[in-house]
Amino acid sequence: MTFAVMFVIGIGAPFVASAQQAGDGERLFRQRCAACHALEAGQNKAGPHLDGLIGRKAGSVEGARYSRALQGAEITWDEQTLDGFLANPRKAVSGTTMVVGVPNEAQRKAIIAYLKSVPAAAN
Ligand code: HEC
Repeated sequence: MTFAVMFVIGIGAPFVASAQQAGDGERLFRQRCAACHALEAGQNKAGPHLDGLIGRKAGSVEGARYSRALQGAEITWDEQTLDGFLANPRKAVSGTTMVVGVPNEAQRKAIIAYLKSVPAAAN
């Protein structure tokens, strides 16, 4: 009995935590990012759509308006590169036209968790 409870708590907690994080991330994304970024492929706003972002090469969305700086940056988006870019875009990619960052690490992690949870459509 005690073992069963420990097992459930031990296994369950990380899932609950990451689900919560993604939930916060969705809210933060709507507040901080959605004005300039859609999550649907093909829908570019001021910024490129962010569908299938993880594993995507920076500056690679067709039809999006990119700075030369980002297009020339040899970056593939993963948790680490996103974290650095979002923390301070202009420091990570000097000359980028995305100027708003997310200095708060917990908020950054939540947004990245959310972006990872959005399924990539074929694009
Ligand atoms: C005021 C508009 C604006 C806001 C708000 C904004 N961005 Fe951006 N974002 C841009 C622009 C413009 C670019 C293209 C930058 C460039 O080409 O240098 C960009 C680029 C990006 C890229 C690189 C995409 C690629 O295809 O290489 C990522 C990732 C990104 N933004 C994530 C975010 C996230 C996450 C947020 C919310 C925390 C956010 N952005 C908020 C305008 C914005």
